[in-house]
Amino acid sequence: MNKQLRGPVIAGNWKMNLSPAETEALIKETKPLVAGAKCGVVFCVPFVDLQAALEAAAGSNLKIGAQNCHWEARGAFTGEVSAAMLKEIGVEYVIVGHSERRTLFGDTNETVACRARAALDAGLTVILCVGESLEQRERDITMEVVRVQTKIALAGVSKAELARVIIAYEPVWAIGTGLTATAAQANEVNRGIRGLLAELYGQAAADSVVIQYGGSMNAANAAELVAQPDVDGGLIGGASLKAADFAAIVKAASEG
Ligand code: PGA
Repeated sequence: MNKQLRGPVIAGNWKMNLSPAETEALIKETKPLVAGAKCGVVFCVPFVDLQAALEAAAGSNLKIGAQNCHWEARGAFTGEVSAAMLKEIGVEYVIVGHSERRTLFGDTNETVACRARAALDAGLTVILCVGESLEQRERDITMEVVRVQTKIALAGVSKAELARVIIAYEPVWAIGTGLTATAAQANEVNRGIRGLLAELYGQAAADSVVIQYGGSMNAANAAELVAQPDVDGGLIGGASLKAADFAAIVKAASEG
């Protein structure tokens, strides 16, 4: 399948940055710069910024996502936010399984699967993050790690639901470090993930899944990465906090 038919998606992951007022300002600055984008454009913002982001992005091509969700709809889960709550206020996307959630906050392949399940049940689109550590890459088990992460997260996800799943391949060693996977490394793992999806869901379904790359993607290296046949855009951390940089990445994906 032609990757432009799949439609690349550039998603900003703001992490724990920007207040509601700063959210409004950055979205207002970014909106006109990405208005003509030929790719999906999403900002995944902190929970307290969601309302401001939704209001600032209203009527534009900019979609809003959260960075995590809990797997239960409600209950005694202090500090958590459910997928249904996100859906109710108009959020369309949610990141699950980001490596920072896995390494700093105890998320496992199993809890990631539960979060993805809840997000899909609530009608959200999931941005599922997978990726190997430096040690795992050095041991040459990258594909095994990524396959296990993907397979467990997608257990129970139907072919119809797969249309609401984006996979973000993010090598842990490349996140926030300034180290980027080479375009060839990114494409190789993304192709491997697509191969796994073909085993699980058939080639046609696998061909329609957006598989992003993430990890120090920026205005300078985006074009080469998103030009790869199996790299359908990116999940952008640091560079998503600067309107001009983010817009340059969106432009690269629109042309890639
Ligand atoms: P980075 O983060 O672009 O700052 O490396 C990417 C991510 O964590 O999604």
